[in-house]
Amino acid sequence: MGNKVMPSQADTSAPVVLDSLEGRLDLKGYPTPYSDVVALMVPLTSRTRGMVDAGFLAAMKTGAVLVNVARGPVVDTDALVAELRSGRLRAALDVTDPEPLPPEHALWTAPGVILTPHVGGSTQEAQEEIGHLTPEAMTEVAELLKLDPGYVSGVATFYSLFRMEPVGEHHFAVCTNLPCTLRGAVEICDHIRRRIGVSQFNEVSADGRFSIEDVECLGACEYAPMMRYQHRYHYDLTPEKVDALIDTAREEVHGD
Ligand code: FES
Repeated sequence: MGNKVMPSQADTSAPVVLDSLEGRLDLKGYPTPYSDVVALMVPLTSRTRGMVDAGFLAAMKTGAVLVNVARGPVVDTDALVAELRSGRLRAALDVTDPEPLPPEHALWTAPGVILTPHVGGSTQEAQEEIGHLTPEAMTEVAELLKLDPGYVSGVATFYSLFRMEPVGEHHFAVCTNLPCTLRGAVEICDHIRRRIGVSQFNEVSADGRFSIEDVECLGACEYAPMMRYQHRYHYDLTPEKVDALIDTAREEVHGD
């Protein structure tokens, strides 16, 4: 897609520079001006409070998007509002300062901003329980960010963490790339499907509680076969390990 991922670590006395991944900050810790998206995922500390100030924002590329899923006070809200009003930057804010935003706050009417009510911490939970991306939601995101709907759809369908269909509250994402398959991933998938009562991937069980999908490499090949389940990686899977997870989930349902 031509985009570059540029990791950086802001909460240190000196910015971390990862040349091998083309990560760069200038000496003040500002983003270099070729970042299309700057995503904030830092704790709120004395060093990060106000970290994204007017200077930081001014260093961002024109048209870039600031994503804040960290804490509101990491960003200088007045400085951000000024950038939004000028039309130079856009933002997607899951957290704000103040929070909650008072009804008359300037962020409500600033252009080019998406506000969500501090749900970032539960986004995956919500998605795994009930959520998925609808065409309407993607169209709305495209309109708000002034992007082509095809671009938003392309991003959403590229990453397996975005789902186009509902999934069960207990969702098994089993890696079926080569190392995991060589170590029994297919058999694990068959076993899970039998136990939760579905015949194929991405099907939700009749009670709506379980589903399974096959995913690409999750980066834990040395622990193959493995899967992501309820936000955690589960390694060296065996039918017995899977059974224990399913039994526990069912006990939760019935309150046994
Ligand atoms: S192949 Fe399964 S985690 Fe890499």
